[in-house]
Amino acid sequence: MIKDFMYYNPVKLVFGEGKLEEAGKWAKEYGKKAVIVTTGTLFKESGLVDRLQKILKDSGVDSIYYPDVDANPLNTQIDKGAETARAKGCDLVIGLGGGSAIDAAKGMAIVLGHKRPIWDFCIGADAAAITVKTYPIIAITTTSGTGSECTQWSVITNPDTEEKPGIGSDYTFAKVAIVDPELMVSMPPKITASTGFDTLAHSIEAYTADLATPITDMGCEQAIRLVGRYLRRVVKNGEDREARNAMAYANSLAGIGISVGIVTVCHGLAHSIGGLTGSTHGETLAAMTPHTMRFSMKAFPDKFRKIAMFLRDECGLPENYSLEDSIKEVEDLIRDIGLGAPLSQQGLKEKDIERAADGVIRYMGGSITNDPATPSREDLIGIIRKAF
Ligand SMILES: [Fe+2]
Repeated sequence: MIKDFMYYNPVKLVFGEGKLEEAGKWAKEYGKKAVIVTTGTLFKESGLVDRLQKILKDSGVDSIYYPDVDANPLNTQIDKGAETARAKGCDLVIGLGGGSAIDAAKGMAIVLGHKRPIWDFCIGADAAAITVKTYPIIAITTTSGTGSECTQWSVITNPDTEEKPGIGSDYTFAKVAIVDPELMVSMPPKITASTGFDTLAHSIEAYTADLATPITDMGCEQAIRLVGRYLRRVVKNGEDREARNAMAYANSLAGIGISVGIVTVCHGLAHSIGGLTGSTHGETLAAMTPHTMRFSMKAFPDKFRKIAMFLRDECGLPENYSLEDSIKEVEDLIRDIGLGAPLSQQGLKEKDIERAADGVIRYMGGSITNDPATPSREDLIGIIRKAF
């Protein structure tokens, strides 16, 4: 039986080496003046921003450049960026970078369209609705994690409240996502590892979620296989083009997965802990994934067994694999790519464990209801302690 499902993902996905050259062709469909959002000035120094500005100019699209965004984008930086873009007459937002730049671009597009601070849209039942007023977004990804180019999600950190919610609506999908693996070649091994693990976490969570669909399952299965086959290789040698290309594709597949299947409790916890610690998303996920899998797998054993099969890139029947096989494959991968620091080494204090669990309940509740095992507050605290 095919289960009942809803699937929606409107992103025009442009994939391939050299596709950055098409940025102008796509941008002119949606605006006359773009604000290019990056996290810091690295891409200005490397010449990538100048290159993009020239590509846009050649198609008649003016642009300005806004680099004042942290690795975990702050609400204040998004508001300021939108203000700058409005003053310069921008009508299009381009995120150039990893998930942080693209998430910040989405946030700025919301603020520009609605003329309200981004935090108004973030938490609670009275959060403002994100509507069709949102400015058009183009995502140009330079990492292979987060999947943000293919999702509606934008993760925003508020340093005052120490919260890190994920927000989004049908209007925060990028109009166009350019995935050019050439832009990822210079990614350092540590970032390749942490973003690559984020891709795996997205695939596992969207695959085992209540909202999983047959369409996203196909993509998640393939993404897990590609991570199993290529992530170690690309962490070892960042210039391995075949592996870069495969991980870029896996990331987009996993992004499509979480745009519909959404995430489960591991991501809920990673957001809450990240809001308290500012830790690196992929590393926090790596500390918790074996524990969240062990917690959730009994509620959905067939799918969790198949994770071992996919990571080994084998075919067969789920009953040929044990649940512990799947956890062992994930643990081996974490070790081989150099992640695996426990949460206590990522800035989480023991006194904040309960606070971290409460954060998930307060603003990442969807990750609990979407998890096949629906953890209680005590379950969340137990998972954090195991990963501590
Ligand atoms: Fe993620």
